[in-house]
Amino acid sequence: MSQSDLYMFYHGFCLPKLAYTVDSLNYFESFQVQDDDIFVITYPKSGTTWMQEILPLILSGGDLTPVLTLQGYERVPWLEEVRSAQVVRKLSAPRTLISHMPCHLMPSTFFSSKAKVIYITRNPKDVAVSFYYFHQMASFLHDPGTFEEFTDSFLAGNVMFGKWTDHVKSWKNPDLGDRILYITYEEMIQDLCEVIKHISCFLNHRLSEEALKRITEQCQFKTMKQNNMSNYSLVTPEIMDNSKSPFLRKGIAGDWKNHFSPEYEAKFNAFISGELKGTGIRFPWDE
Ligand code: A3P
Repeated sequence: MSQSDLYMFYHGFCLPKLAYTVDSLNYFESFQVQDDDIFVITYPKSGTTWMQEILPLILSGGDLTPVLTLQGYERVPWLEEVRSAQVVRKLSAPRTLISHMPCHLMPSTFFSSKAKVIYITRNPKDVAVSFYYFHQMASFLHDPGTFEEFTDSFLAGNVMFGKWTDHVKSWKNPDLGDRILYITYEEMIQDLCEVIKHISCFLNHRLSEEALKRITEQCQFKTMKQNNMSNYSLVTPEIMDNSKSPFLRKGIAGDWKNHFSPEYEAKFNAFISGELKGTGIRFPWDE
């Protein structure tokens, strides 16, 4: 299929037509945000599915029912996808919602609300690798070509939701003050229990030691991989073919080292630091 068959354009970046329509984006734009809403915001392949596991478990106090009975998009629905309206209607407060949108495109009611945001970033080199394999298994995305061809497109923003650097810059928004919690995929890999504790404090939802332990275990990569409500195995292979590359693929930090040549890494680093120059944005993986 050609790229124009696969994608529509929204504010300069492409979105797969299978998941996004003019109606779903109208719904997104006119969404009525409530003060107690909780948003998870990510650039694709940064830990979205992981947080769709963690957040409902924090709010349930460690009761596993939501993650064993509902699929990720039913627990923490997408704000901008075709299924949103019908899923959001069923949520009780506090509503948990997920989005890949840059900050400046959020619905106007978001800015006047007190809704909280958990923003996850991941080393962009690992994002590029994960995205590359996702393109191989998702029929609604274009054929990625070679790894370097795909990563050139990733840097240029010719992938869904545009440039990684634009997304990160957009969400470093000082106006959000203490409404936003920034966490990294790498911190979650390093000490998941500590990150869960941190999120529960941010949400004023303290957890018992026992609940914390249960949530940490349920959100391990190997446990999620076995959970059919979280591993995308229930999606038809015509849409996502887990035999080509599993959605929950490796779940590690640093797989980029198996994919980047030294020359390509230098080019990638120079591009990212050029884009972030003057913003003061720094990440643990830069140290
Ligand atoms: P890999 O392709 O590197 O394995 P998203 O949900 O934003 O699309 O991100 C998907 C990435 O998050 C995949 O990365 C996936 O394996 C990883 N992931 C999901 N759950 C995880 C977990 N419990 N632990 C570690 N990584 C996880």
